[in-house]
Amino acid sequence: MRNSSSELFAKAQRVIPGGVNSPVRAFRSVGGEPFFVDRAAGAHIWDVDGREYIDYVGTWGPAILGHAPRVVIDAVRDAAARGVSFGIPNPYEVEIAELICRWVPSIEKVRMVNSGTEATMSCIRLARGCTGRDKVIKFEGCYHGHVDSLLVHAGSGALTHGRADSAGVPEKLAGMTIALPFNDCEAVRAAFQNNRGEIAAVIVEPIPANAGLYFAQPGFLELLREQCTAHGALLIFDEVMTGFRVARGGAQELYAITPDLTALGKVIGGGLPVGAFGGRAEMMDQLSPEGPVYQAGTLSGNPLAMAAGLAQLRELERIDGWKLLEQLGASLENAIREAVREVDLPLTFHRIGSMFCLFFTHGPVTDLATAKRSDTQAFARFFHECLRRGVYLAPSQFETGFISTAHTEQDLDRTAEIMRDALRVACR
Ligand SMILES: Cc1ncc(COP(=O)(O)O)c(C=O)c1O
Repeated sequence: MRNSSSELFAKAQRVIPGGVNSPVRAFRSVGGEPFFVDRAAGAHIWDVDGREYIDYVGTWGPAILGHAPRVVIDAVRDAAARGVSFGIPNPYEVEIAELICRWVPSIEKVRMVNSGTEATMSCIRLARGCTGRDKVIKFEGCYHGHVDSLLVHAGSGALTHGRADSAGVPEKLAGMTIALPFNDCEAVRAAFQNNRGEIAAVIVEPIPANAGLYFAQPGFLELLREQCTAHGALLIFDEVMTGFRVARGGAQELYAITPDLTALGKVIGGGLPVGAFGGRAEMMDQLSPEGPVYQAGTLSGNPLAMAAGLAQLRELERIDGWKLLEQLGASLENAIREAVREVDLPLTFHRIGSMFCLFFTHGPVTDLATAKRSDTQAFARFFHECLRRGVYLAPSQFETGFISTAHTEQDLDRTAEIMRDALRVACR
């Protein structure tokens, strides 16, 4: 007899902290227990209890073609037949680096790593190494992985784990991070004025998607670019979430802003553990073995991961995935807005391309403070009503939903119907 989700979770909690390998999976902010996945295909997931869900988590972003797309599975199978890891350069690494440099013009050289966290961590080290300065500006609610220096007023799971920041981050290190409200131009100007010659970098999610989803007001990202240039600091775009998702060249293409360094992850790995960071050649050449900034990885450039990423990126381009995702996103948005109009609840819906979020608050939502006005209990009720009816959303108000190219109009119609029913119950 196979274990049920509940039995597996009970076992997991005995041997894995909280029963999960990443906190938000534990459903703590919505209550209840997580389900365990048996298999996934396209836009659908089946759990070990035999239930089926339309999935809008998409393995937290990577599954832009849906689950188990044939091109990725074939590429991984072919690569695995030649050996799963070498620790010696392999041709896939060159191919993917060339593709990234072609698609993201601000990147002249790129290094592959194994996660988004490694990518942002390496950007920070490189920025400090290049500038000889220590301080970093980040924005409240932006999440850049579980890097010590960046776990200050962070979003995503760090926002709902019950304390402002993480234990275990030395105060002295946290003190080198200046956390500012997103969209606050005056705060940025003041931080540069008050820390003249000390700021190594500004790191930002150009489309913040880890405290729900909200957007830069006109001029904000431009101001970051201008201030960094004026003060000799580097502008780091964390495009772990947005890279290859909102456009072929990421958010920097959409907003026409050139960062100095870019962190990538998620979509780039086709569902395997991959991150990358890149920028101008002269800066990237400060990395070991060319330069003094050390960075390395046993499994970096792993052939399976590179093959999966390449296959996913090429397929996205072949099918003009970004256009399709915009069409699907617009359909879902229309249907959700209609459902929202029918209920008497303060709701704010945000979408860009295939990313979306429904806040349980009146708008406008423009930063962490306004996102936190959401009624998280109403969200939790909505989440469970959706789940019960077969729609899997991220188990937290402070996350973003993802549509894949595998979602069909039928999936979206069904989702809107379910959300309409769930909203009626949630607002009772
Ligand atoms: C914007 C952003 N940066 C960095 C990370 C960290 O990536 P990883 O979880 O692969 O370490 C995430 C993860 O959600 C993210 O959303």
